[in-house]
Amino acid sequence: MTRKIIQNGRIVTSVDDYFADILIVDDQIAAIGRNLVVGTDTQVIDAKGLLVLPGGVDCHTHMDNTFGDSTTCDSFESGTRSAAFGGTTTIVDFAFQRQGVGVLEAIERARIKGAAGACIDYGFHVIVTGVNAQVLADMQHAIRHEGVSSFKMFMAYPGSVMVDDAAIFQAMRMVGQHGGMIALHAENGTIIDLLIKEALAQGHTAPKYHALTRPAIMEGEATHRGIKLAELAEAPVYFVHLSAKEALKHVVEARDMGVPVFAETCPHYLFFDESVYDSDDFDLARYVMSPPLRSKESQKALWTALRTDDLQLVSTDHCPFCMKEGHLGLVNQKPLGRNDFSKIPNGVPGVETRMATLYDGGVRSEKISLNRFVELTSTAPAKLFGLFPQKGTIAVGSDADIVLFDPGEQHVISAKNQHGNCDFTLFEGRNVTGKVKKVLLRGELIVDADQWLGKVGGGRFVSRGESGGW
Ligand code: URP
Ligand code: ZN
Ligand code: ZN
Repeated sequence: MTRKIIQNGRIVTSVDDYFADILIVDDQIAAIGRNLVVGTDTQVIDAKGLLVLPGGVDCHTHMDNTFGDSTTCDSFESGTRSAAFGGTTTIVDFAFQRQGVGVLEAIERARIKGAAGACIDYGFHVIVTGVNAQVLADMQHAIRHEGVSSFKMFMAYPGSVMVDDAAIFQAMRMVGQHGGMIALHAENGTIIDLLIKEALAQGHTAPKYHALTRPAIMEGEATHRGIKLAELAEAPVYFVHLSAKEALKHVVEARDMGVPVFAETCPHYLFFDESVYDSDDFDLARYVMSPPLRSKESQKALWTALRTDDLQLVSTDHCPFCMKEGHLGLVNQKPLGRNDFSKIPNGVPGVETRMATLYDGGVRSEKISLNRFVELTSTAPAKLFGLFPQKGTIAVGSDADIVLFDPGEQHVISAKNQHGNCDFTLFEGRNVTGKVKKVLLRGELIVDADQWLGKVGGGRFVSRGESGGW
């Protein structure tokens, strides 16, 4: 039996804020109280001056995910180590049900990758690219027996992963009856495809045309359609990477009517806007993600929605591709689209910067409270995706996933001091206040200042309960 005590810290959960000690026995929180008396066999961790937060839960990451010819540059190992340095102790990544691969086989393959490389705990959503009776039966089995209760479906990328409305509706109808939830990538794929073809035919090949061919109104249209499909199916629905006020307004309207609609946004939409797409320079490929960056008005609306719970959480959509071909030997990265913006792999890194940027730009600048910060980064994703109360809070019986965070330490974000494989961060040079100092994963100290103490393969698969019931 191993015993640790965290003393002198200020414990902050999504609802509490108080000074107390935390006793950890093996991998769980065993007691919380003032002046806990411990024996000499207990290791003491001093948290004086630090916030004691539940480990971050990032429910949208892409470690070692392949899209077309490109694979994200973070493996399970590098990506989860990077997440840990950023204060995240659990991710929900993706298992890919491609043509010819069943849902259960996809989960099995993803679990093998996770088991070999993960440095923090992990679960999976399944990307479903086609629906038939077998797929529906396997999805049901996954919810009830595999601890996988959420599924991503794409309304974009025709000819690749896009599914039609009937497929989405069928999947929603089934998961809604069995404690699962569909997560939608909501952009109108066929219209966007047409706009891309037209832009290329006119010789517009630069990265900025990625943004110009994915208008906010088409995110709004798909979001509205997704909500209506969910209403008809009587199922909860979750919108990933919501970026535009044109989409948000439909989420707000549906939630006000009591429809179980949930949505996340991502730090890049909160801190950057479409004004970056101001030149024909290929360097703008770093801002190629889907949906693209939006207007300043959208950004303002997203911040408001985080405060008012119209948006429930912030995840990263960590989907990194390098700007330099050959970095760490990786190929088919962003330069793949040097002569054709539609070939630039979509996605940006972010798993390590989520907590610090949201603390600095959200809590310190008084856009969200400290409790809300914890809710957005840990408690809400845990509740929504069936991980709570094992994850997402500091409570007796919960996993001892704990972050000691210095609210006053300044640091400058740079790709050079990140721990993932990506050769850039959108936050390069940003001076932020608030730094992760120590991270415990199920009671094990895995990050101590700049030191990595965790183990490759030390992360465990977390079998999740129902999604969307919160
Ligand atoms: O650009 C993005 N978001 N890439 C990752 C795949 C997805 O759609 O989430
Ligand atoms: Zn997506
Ligand atoms: Zn994604």
